[in-house]
Amino acid sequence: MKKRFLLAPGPTPVPENVLLSMAQPMIHHRTPQFSAIFAEAKEDLKYIFQTKQDVLILAASGTGAMEGSITNLFSPGDEVLVVNGGKFGERWGKISEAYGLKAHWLNVEWGKAVHPSEVKKALDANPKIKGVLMQASETSTTVAHPVKEIAAFTKNRQDCLLIVDGITSVGVFPTPMDEWGIDVLVSGSQKAFMLPPGLAFAALSDKAWKFMETAKCQRFYFDFKKERKNLKDNTTAYTPAASLVIGLRDALKMLKEEGLENVFARHNRLARATRAAVKAMGLKLLAPDSPSDATTGAYVPEGVDGGKFVKYLRDDMGITMAGGQDHLKGKIIRIAHLGYVDTFDIIVAISSIEMALRKFGHKVEFGKGVAAAQEILMEGYK
Ligand SMILES: Cc1ncc(COP(=O)(O)O)c(C=O)c1O
Repeated sequence: MKKRFLLAPGPTPVPENVLLSMAQPMIHHRTPQFSAIFAEAKEDLKYIFQTKQDVLILAASGTGAMEGSITNLFSPGDEVLVVNGGKFGERWGKISEAYGLKAHWLNVEWGKAVHPSEVKKALDANPKIKGVLMQASETSTTVAHPVKEIAAFTKNRQDCLLIVDGITSVGVFPTPMDEWGIDVLVSGSQKAFMLPPGLAFAALSDKAWKFMETAKCQRFYFDFKKERKNLKDNTTAYTPAASLVIGLRDALKMLKEEGLENVFARHNRLARATRAAVKAMGLKLLAPDSPSDATTGAYVPEGVDGGKFVKYLRDDMGITMAGGQDHLKGKIIRIAHLGYVDTFDIIVAISSIEMALRKFGHKVEFGKGVAAAQEILMEGYK
């Protein structure tokens, strides 16, 4: 027997009560019964997104909301600035180009955050840029980008939108959409929402809704105007992922009960504990200067094959974490701490890494990483 733990940056573990609520017999989605559930979820989503705006609920993975943000707001030939500091930044650029937009790529070294002045420089040099596309949390490099500082440049430009992929920031650390002036914030169910994959969310500012009036990109399924109209009637344009919406209602209740400030504080505590443990184990952090509280990236020691290391943790120890992508493949491990995750998930993660390091011939003193994490995790207890 092997007890399994899911500590990857998505999908994340799903709480037992949410699993049970999604296992109820199927109900029809065009019924007052379903609409009542949808209405609750719709309201509570605003709380988590820190916005007064509607939050659209789409049957898609997070990329669906990213694609919809491009197709609903721009026209072929429009120019956008892509903050490309990892796999998901790159995705913004690829989607934009797929729909005929002209992408200006602002390349950022993996593991580093974009400097706000670089964004300002690009916007000043190219007044035709109609959108800045970025991640709040670039999961592939475990970096948090400075959204607030960049919003300060874009919010007063009526002809330029700030479009933020909050797929691993919403419900993890603050990205207060209305307060900062983010124009589009998207997320996905399989992250801090503690649900299986299958729902994508998108919230738009008034400025963004105005852009939609003139946007000419081809679109059909992800038609935000149509979805907003249906949302008002507590339904969706097409068949919703009904079981996931039921789970969403319950997961949001849990987050609301904990309180958003406490949710952020928990993620921050777990992240700090993980970073301290990584350093105590003698490993190097991937993003020491601007780390995301969603996931911690660490280089595996010289001579250790990171791919084999992650596979060993998963197949022999039962602990699923993530490795690296592209040029970081085989070089790093990513320990996720978002969603339905608490103190003892971190203990499991760190102690399993210590044991696996020993197996891979790396000199490690058992308990050093765990002790460093415990010092910080104690903050969570009176
Ligand atoms: C920051 C970020 N953006 C986009 C995505 C893509 O989301 P999905 O795989 O749900 O389409 C992910 C998924 O890991 C992500 O972490």
